[in-house]
Amino acid sequence: MDDAVILSRTEGRVGVITLNRPKQLNALNDALMDALGIALLAFDVDPAIGAIVITGNDKAFAAGADIAVMADWTYMDVFQSDFITRNWETIRRVRKPVIAAVAGFAMGGGCELALSCDIIVAAESAQFALPEIKLAVLPGAGGTQRLPRAIGKAKAMDMCLSARTLSAEEADRYGLVSRVVASDQLTTETMALAQRIAGYSLPALMAIKESVNRAWESSLTEGILFERRELHARFASADAHEGMHAFMEKRKPSFSHR
Ligand code: HXC
Repeated sequence: MDDAVILSRTEGRVGVITLNRPKQLNALNDALMDALGIALLAFDVDPAIGAIVITGNDKAFAAGADIAVMADWTYMDVFQSDFITRNWETIRRVRKPVIAAVAGFAMGGGCELALSCDIIVAAESAQFALPEIKLAVLPGAGGTQRLPRAIGKAKAMDMCLSARTLSAEEADRYGLVSRVVASDQLTTETMALAQRIAGYSLPALMAIKESVNRAWESSLTEGILFERRELHARFASADAHEGMHAFMEKRKPSFSHR
């Protein structure tokens, strides 16, 4: 499996997917995005998994969509194959928390893939950019939509129009990433975070993810209503009663993920 475009493994209740085209800085071609989608959905339906990590290597999370493949595509090619929508958007169907562990380059589609995750943990070495303008295309894997929602119009326009690269520290300050860690601690810190999350009640995690995502897509009134319904639904779960009783009894909760 050495030439596999992704590597997939589990550690406790965490599923880890490693992007694996190091010679191309993990440039994202169809084979990789197909494999990533399949791996994500497999972890999503596996009851033994509570959280998923997507990572790359020390040099690159991913340097973007594969330019070598795209260079001669025509409009009809991308329209008929439903480029991006067909496989890149599989991640939107994942209901469990997905964490991007980013070291090195997160450029173009690589940055957009990270933005599609729920949490981004950045190594100090991480660099974020949407440099598609240099190729006379655009950040078409959600970048023009997710980036302004994440960091605001002013910073997003600057990144998209000038191809400005952000350091991990800047990305943290602007709210593009969730936290920055020492480069040699990226795996340790991300796995500790993922294991912590995966230890909580899975249906509660899913309800929270769904509710926070609603904040992006609805008015405050609609979002609050959605959140309230999710809250009320927690009282139909065994885990919510277990969590509250465990607190009262000063013991660790034992979640059944029901
Ligand atoms: C294909 C890529 C690639 C990419 C790097 N490589 N990025 N191949 N697609 N996106 C390849 C290089 O061609 C090279 O192959 C090898 O990986 C190492 O890259 P170098 O450039 O030699 O490394 P370095 O000098 O360290 O520079 C790193 C870099 C640079 C700054 C990240 O590679 C770069 O600018 N890459 C392109 C970034 C980019 O424009 N991304 C956006 C793509 S468009 P060889 O064979 O020469 O060793 C996109 C759109 C998505 O993502 C939305 C849909 C349209």
